[in-house]
Amino acid sequence: MSGSPVKIAILFSGRGSNMQTLARHIAKAHVPAELVLTVTNRPDAGGIAICKAAGIACTVIDHKSFDSREAFDAKLDEKLRAANIDLICCAGFMRLLTADFVNGWPDRLLNIHPSLLPKYKGLRTHQRALEAGDKEHGCTVHYMRPEMDDGPIIVQKSVPVLAGDTPDMLADRVIEQEHIAYPEALDMVLKKMAGTA
Ligand code: GRF
Repeated sequence: MSGSPVKIAILFSGRGSNMQTLARHIAKAHVPAELVLTVTNRPDAGGIAICKAAGIACTVIDHKSFDSREAFDAKLDEKLRAANIDLICCAGFMRLLTADFVNGWPDRLLNIHPSLLPKYKGLRTHQRALEAGDKEHGCTVHYMRPEMDDGPIIVQKSVPVLAGDTPDMLADRVIEQEHIAYPEALDMVLKKMAGTA
């Protein structure tokens, strides 16, 4: 892979702020990567407008058009392989991927999760951290493994939980750190892929 930019795909499902942050980072001259495409599983995802405005190729693969998780993943896999993707970044991609799909991209599939993993896998992480009375919360970028929100951790960032926090207030503090953590983790992974880390 020496010399040629790493071909990246970003998968997202909603607002797309992590996707946008990664896209901006990848566009920097010193980052040895190229954003080839983004894919969303939701035709109403807010991030689609971000892609349009930035001239980023975005493919919609609506999961509701598929009879099974396997069929959706097969279409996704086909799209990514046709584009010669080297590395997939899930950024707010709210779909569980099958073990077959995940195992087909060993150490080529990253995810960001809004908690300090292994705490709070799954949904409503901010509310659960508040309910548990945690003093800190945060986010994790990790390599994906077939189990949900599992896999080797690349970067974690923590934030304090403050008196009077609501889940939304805490989420706002965490997302700021997500936007720092994902580019940082991507740089580390790119170095590793280039054999310089
Ligand atoms: C982020 O908090 C991400 O970690 C979680 O869903 C949120 C997506 O936000 N899985 P965005 O679409 O990247 O703005």
